[in-house]
Amino acid sequence: MSPPEGRRAAVASPTLAFMTRFAAITQPLIGIIGLTMVTLGLLFWTGNALTLIPLHMLLGLLLVLILWSLAVVGAVAGVNPVHVGVTALWGFLMPVLGLAQGALLPGDAHPVIQVLHLLVGLAGIALAGSLAARIRRRGDRHGEIG
Ligand code: HEM
Repeated sequence: MSPPEGRRAAVASPTLAFMTRFAAITQPLIGIIGLTMVTLGLLFWTGNALTLIPLHMLLGLLLVLILWSLAVVGAVAGVNPVHVGVTALWGFLMPVLGLAQGALLPGDAHPVIQVLHLLVGLAGIALAGSLAARIRRRGDRHGEIG
């Protein structure tokens, strides 16, 4: 038997508030990490700052953790399962490509892998940002109801 409406809202509220706050905290983080990753990547592309590759990889790992956390929170919040699933999958795809890319298509065709790596990275940032926005919208909507 489901609890009365008021009680359900009281039970759900702290969880919703946590999810909304989590999404609100990750949103600017995703932007900062994304901008740093792209800037570092473009520097590497032009043969600069190669000593910062470990930092780039560490930030990539952080981004993966954010993607997976948002996927879990998004699933609990009832966000579109396709969006949640693709975001979780991207958390695997992005680091796998990032770690393997040095060995992929060596030679003249390597720029194809580099562009692919950039596009997969940008898509990961976009997925994370839009999922965080969706979680916040859900939290705000339910917050209004009570
Ligand atoms: C877990 C995630 C990631 C890992 C492990 C990773 C790893 C790497 C590594 C090792 C390089 C140096 C490749 C080389 O010079 O041989 C690189 C370069 C680069 N990364 Fe990432 N990266 C990740 C995510 C991202 C993201 C999210 C973006 C941007 C949105 C990005 C953009 C770039 C760009 C533009 C380059 C330079 C071009 C290239 O070498 O492909 N990376 N990355």
